[in-house]
Amino acid sequence: MKGVILAGGRGTRLYPLTKVTNKHLLPVGKEPMIFNPVKQLIFAGITDIMVVTGKEHMGEIVRLLGSGRDFGCDFTFKVQEEPLGIANALLLAENFARGEKIVVILGDNIATHSIKKYVDRFRQQKEGARVLLRKVEDPERFGIAALDELKIVEIEEKPLYPKSQYAVIGIYMYDEKVFDIIRQIRPNAHGEYEITPVNNFYISLNQLYYDLLEGEWTDAGTFESLAYANRIMLEIDNKIIVSED
Ligand code: G1P
Repeated sequence: MKGVILAGGRGTRLYPLTKVTNKHLLPVGKEPMIFNPVKQLIFAGITDIMVVTGKEHMGEIVRLLGSGRDFGCDFTFKVQEEPLGIANALLLAENFARGEKIVVILGDNIATHSIKKYVDRFRQQKEGARVLLRKVEDPERFGIAALDELKIVEIEEKPLYPKSQYAVIGIYMYDEKVFDIIRQIRPNAHGEYEITPVNNFYISLNQLYYDLLEGEWTDAGTFESLAYANRIMLEIDNKIIVSED
């Protein structure tokens, strides 16, 4: 299994903090934001990791992360020429994945507890995809899952009238089909290839599974959520918690 961290985008919601630097390099607690997804993958046993970002800040990202030696992993870096959405960025990992399953983390998703147990369930899963859900107070900001008792019925991206409070967070697990699926989806009104249609495609195949994420979680793409990310990481000294079960 391989890991992909998507760390591109313009970070416009955090302007001017992101005027001269990449969002994923901003401090969260005592470390740069991108350290949390890196450590999440390593804790889950994934040490072959591709980082995708734009050309403006690739230099700084490489300078920060290096080869991976200091983390005990192996980094591969790939440039996304234009910020055309999450699914578009993920397509860049096709050759890297070489037909293996992948765990994808959006670089601004910060979690206090290890995701290893969910990744282990995905390892056991024969095919399909797996997403992590989390109850949120502001569902208009996320991809929102409509649930029946066992399954996700549909995901809507940033719905005006959310059908639930369960956000699909930015940690996704896919089998090797994902790249063919991405090639079939259409861009949104802004010309961006979003990840939600990819997940909905897996629903149509009856192959989308989910877990509810334990612990604290936030994305860190707005001033409020960045402040919250700082608080939860400071509280645990940026050390990911591994719970026994
Ligand atoms: C993205 C996804 C959204 C997801 C969120 C989690 O939104 O499109 O479905 O819930 O990440 O962080 P973005 O924050 O890029 O607008």
